[in-house]
Amino acid sequence: MKKPPKETALEDRAIEGAKLYSPSTARNRDVIRDVLLKTMPQEGRILEIGAGTGEHAVHIAGALPEATWFTGDPDETARASIAAWVAGAGLDNLQGPHAIDVTAQDWEAALDDAPYDGIVSINMIHIAPFEAATGLFAGAGRLLRPGGKLFLYGPFARNGAHTAPSNEAFNESLKARDPRWGVRDLEGDILPLAQKNSLSLEEIVEMPANNLSVIFRKN
Ligand SMILES: C[S@@+](CC[C@H](N)C(=O)[O-])C[C@H]1O[C@@H](n2cnc3c(N)ncnc32)[C@H](O)[C@@H]1O
Repeated sequence: MKKPPKETALEDRAIEGAKLYSPSTARNRDVIRDVLLKTMPQEGRILEIGAGTGEHAVHIAGALPEATWFTGDPDETARASIAAWVAGAGLDNLQGPHAIDVTAQDWEAALDDAPYDGIVSINMIHIAPFEAATGLFAGAGRLLRPGGKLFLYGPFARNGAHTAPSNEAFNESLKARDPRWGVRDLEGDILPLAQKNSLSLEEIVEMPANNLSVIFRKN
């Protein structure tokens, strides 16, 4: 496999046709899928935001046959990869790609099949300006049905402190690429957004490599 012509990710992705292959997804897709299966609705409509290559979507939708999984990404190269992965998977319950950018005003208004049962965003809010987290929570507050879930995965600081030297170094490397990016503080940055948008923290699951899965429930 050769390297993609345009590399937007933080890692070296391989490419085959339009399909991108993420080394980090190869490492973490099983553990993320397993936590999702335990914590998210098993049926209904689930929206994935910032899906990147599309590999998580294929992996998870294949394990959630009773749910409809709608995946997408605002980046054009990512969408081409997602389209190739979706077509190749041949799963009846996997749809996309959409081009949702959660910093757009009222982004969820474009979806005509609201409310949703779940929203999933993996490794997105720290590799984007903080407005992406703000917009994600605002849209989730409006789009989720009462009892619906928002699932985030990634590194988080806790109460103002990094949880590991590797996360602190990662935060510095993110900020060197774009000062608006950075590891978010769960208590300081994210829980206020949840409260503002009628979402309650339901569960925090410790994941390998000092990452967390964080699950919120719409009130
Ligand atoms: C590091 S990648 C993660 C991709 C994939 N979820 C994964 O874990 O492999 C972050 C993704 O978030 C997307 N993204 C960045 N800002 C966004 C926004 N405002 N709305 C939606 N997606 C966004 C990027 O285009 C990128 O594909």
